[in-house]
Amino acid sequence: MVKATWLGHSAVLLEGSRTVVIDPFLTGNPCAACPPDAIKKADLVVVTHHHGDHLGDAYALCRATGATLVAMHEIAVEGQERNLKAEGMNIGGTVEVAGVKVHMVSALHSAEKGSAAGVVVEMDGRRIYHAGDTGLTLDMQLVGEFFRPDLSFLPIGDRYTMGPASAAKAVEWIKTKKVVPVHYGTFPLVAADPEEFKKKVGSLAEVVILEPGRSVTV
Ligand code: NI
Ligand code: MN
Repeated sequence: MVKATWLGHSAVLLEGSRTVVIDPFLTGNPCAACPPDAIKKADLVVVTHHHGDHLGDAYALCRATGATLVAMHEIAVEGQERNLKAEGMNIGGTVEVAGVKVHMVSALHSAEKGSAAGVVVEMDGRRIYHAGDTGLTLDMQLVGEFFRPDLSFLPIGDRYTMGPASAAKAVEWIKTKKVVPVHYGTFPLVAADPEEFKKKVGSLAEVVILEPGRSVTV
């Protein structure tokens, strides 16, 4: 069983036999569920891409908890330069840390360094897809074919990522059981309506609309 908590924006905390934090943008995030120092324990910190609203507090969190940074090669190198434990990888690859598998999948987006990616985290027999920032891309069909996620986090904020309509199409392709919309409402520029997303998804998957700090269990 894995408890997944939305920490606001794209930040997600996964708690199972291990603790995994994804895209921990908390400092400076007006919707953050908690400050970074509220996270006392983490085994892995996973970053989807080198943008401030995803890299966020990743390095500080690795330093404070001793967690291993798992990210695109260029981000991992930055972590290693800061004397952090870091595993670099790239799209198509899998890294295993402390029994948790991280599969890196494609995303259609930019990044300050390296490129943008999505991840599928496999822990305790559950597969959780975090799409990072991405536009709708046919590559998502591969996520459905290879992983059939139990739970997915998809951006719906539009402008920089998919909006509600394209994210609903993504749900069809990734064949996820449950989906949580993220990357909306943080700033006026990403003010999307999660109910519109839910309506468009219909019966394709269970849409779980969370408030920051709230959880879903799979
Ligand atoms: Ni981005
Ligand atoms: Mn973003």
